[in-house]
Amino acid sequence: MTDNAVTTPATAGARVEDLLARLTLEEKASLLGGSDFWHTTAVERVGVPAVMVTDGPHGLRKQAEGADHLGLNASVPATCFPPAAGLASSWDTALLRRVGEALGRETRAERVAVLLGPGVNMKRTPLCGRNFEYFSEDPVLAGDLAAALVRGVQSQGVGTSLKHFAANNQETQRMTVSADVDERTLREVYLTAFERVVRTAQPWTVMCSYNRINGVYASEDPWLLTRVLREEWGFEGLVVSDWGAVNVREDGVRAGLDLEMPSSGGTGTRRVLDAVAAGTLSEAEVDRSARRVLELLAKAAPALAEPGTVDHEAHHALAREAATASAVLLRNEPVGEGAHAAPLLPLAPTGGAVAVVGEFARTPRYQGAGSSQVNPTRLDDALSALRAAFGGSREVVFAAGYDPDAEDLDAALAREAVDAAAGAEVVVVFLGLPPRYESEGYDRAHTHLPAAQVELLERVAAANARVVVVLSNGSAVTVEPWQQRVPALLETWLLGQAGGGAVADLLTGAANPSGRLAETIPARHEDDPTVGNFPGENGHVRYGEGLLIGYRWYDAHALPVAHPFGHGLSYTTFAYSDLRVRPAGDGAQVEVTVTNTGAVAGTETVQVYVRDPECSAYRPEQELKGFARLTLAPGESGTATVALDRRAFAFWHTAVQRWVVEGGGFEVRVGASSRDVRLTASIALDGDDVALPLTGESTVDAWLEHPVTGPLVREALGEGRWRAMLEDPHNGQMMRAIPLVRLTRFPGFPIGEDELPAWEARAARA
Ligand code: BGC
Repeated sequence: MTDNAVTTPATAGARVEDLLARLTLEEKASLLGGSDFWHTTAVERVGVPAVMVTDGPHGLRKQAEGADHLGLNASVPATCFPPAAGLASSWDTALLRRVGEALGRETRAERVAVLLGPGVNMKRTPLCGRNFEYFSEDPVLAGDLAAALVRGVQSQGVGTSLKHFAANNQETQRMTVSADVDERTLREVYLTAFERVVRTAQPWTVMCSYNRINGVYASEDPWLLTRVLREEWGFEGLVVSDWGAVNVREDGVRAGLDLEMPSSGGTGTRRVLDAVAAGTLSEAEVDRSARRVLELLAKAAPALAEPGTVDHEAHHALAREAATASAVLLRNEPVGEGAHAAPLLPLAPTGGAVAVVGEFARTPRYQGAGSSQVNPTRLDDALSALRAAFGGSREVVFAAGYDPDAEDLDAALAREAVDAAAGAEVVVVFLGLPPRYESEGYDRAHTHLPAAQVELLERVAAANARVVVVLSNGSAVTVEPWQQRVPALLETWLLGQAGGGAVADLLTGAANPSGRLAETIPARHEDDPTVGNFPGENGHVRYGEGLLIGYRWYDAHALPVAHPFGHGLSYTTFAYSDLRVRPAGDGAQVEVTVTNTGAVAGTETVQVYVRDPECSAYRPEQELKGFARLTLAPGESGTATVALDRRAFAFWHTAVQRWVVEGGGFEVRVGASSRDVRLTASIALDGDDVALPLTGESTVDAWLEHPVTGPLVREALGEGRWRAMLEDPHNGQMMRAIPLVRLTRFPGFPIGEDELPAWEARAARA
């Protein structure tokens, strides 16, 4: 960078304004688009540099050449951490922070200004092809984990891009589909994770999504990009388009989309300049976005000037720690007879042969396909790691069992696997989704494992009952009915480059499983909330399930699930006692004692759900509002503390367009999963005043419930038949649902239509 460049934070503000003043309109317009696939545009005349931005999210995908946004061409080696589907299962914000710091160091060392992630879109259905890149079906969990990651990355002096804003919950027609979502659902489910990250971590950039929301492209939606994001949430950074998300460039600038990526080859700049010339876009609007680009460059300049180095060994070790925390033990049933019966896992260090079956043990499935595909610095496989872990004290035999690329069972491979299983004391079967089953760019056709893998499992289980299944998949798969055939099931999602060692640690008990499900595993896909409303038709997808995403749906319909949201076993057990819930600030403080009642150290994730038993609006049965992890030695007790702010009790009130707490009692449920609530307590909170404007169109009920007009209307009604009719316990309901103006027209009603303006004025004054 030259003298003129923006270099230090202290002077950055003044330098940005100075630079802006020296740029011509054409130069400012040029800043609003990329110069190639991954770089912003430089203005050499005044020393404005171009910076590089690149994917993301769970590792750096910096392409030296052959640029594409589909993960097709090679990139420089970088640590491949577990994708979000894995990381989310850790429920561990401190871990996410450390992973973020490592990602930030790698980003900085490669002189990249912004890592394009994380993605916090909700997992609306397991069929979304890109779920492996997203955290959860719950916005509080996704938001808090992503915020920690963002803080970690940005602590290294480089930025993040919170994506894909917003309601990008499917890959089918992702560039054009309109997500048709009612406002309350948008606010409470699909925007909340973004909001939590923006408010608490200020990502340097937000990436708008490809799709439309209620008919309007996210890339040109002023409500989304300016009113909600900036005016309500206080976002201070830059909005960048997803790659190729711009529809009409000048409309985007007006709406608040600052930077178009990748380069449009000058088309975007031309359109911006034409719009200014035509008077449909102001120079001030161009300045606003140009300023944000300059501010981004200023923020990145110090780190880019001193890129530092990366300790790849240390990052691999962190990737292994993260992978260990990401796997979820779903089942661990006792095997053996009578007094000898014990859970199948962990595997003892000595004993008979261990048969390892499945190609994924040797050739791991460790990340998803598309723009997030990282070129790992190393790649560990579980087979080698298990051999190393047993170190010869147990024989490990391997059979590939299936070819991940083939749909049909290979009889020879299956026979070999069955033979290995029959001759072993215990069998570990690695199953999962082949890479082609899930990717950015398209959705899954179904939620099943390949039929050949299930058939293989049946044959193996028939030969040896002591079977552990290890699953690799980026999104939930159907585990019923085959899981009933096996005593133990470890869901590893996608574990990144160090997953092999992590799996060996978990299977042998060198590490105690601590992951918890960040998404429900349904019993059958037919129960999914989006059935009938996915992936839509004629360019529209209707979010007909409304608020009832994930466990909210399964709870509302009292449906059985294979494994509930929040579930995860450990090699120890935990007891909950002494729940204390008390008012604190404008919300509540929750404390509960947790005791490790088993024989080994372990980590429990305490989950806090809130239920509003009585509300004028529909509330889901329960919603996660906080969580805390506790690591405890055998016999040790600790206190989990979770702070609930007022928002934890609020809903989005569409009539007054704000978050509202309706006063009264709330139930606070504390437990080990959404379906394993251990303790509950009640707390009463004062409500917010919600004064809905009363008009003649309002029902008599609304007039009667209003604190000021209620007594006055009653007085006007007197003691006669109208009062009696309106207060009748049965027919009164029908009467009170009539708008006041209509009732005034009924013969003999004591309030006349001509008096309504005075009544409305009275209500407005109240
Ligand atoms: C993806 C983004 C990614 C971008 C750049 C797009 O296709 O949706 O997540 O950051 O490409 O590769």
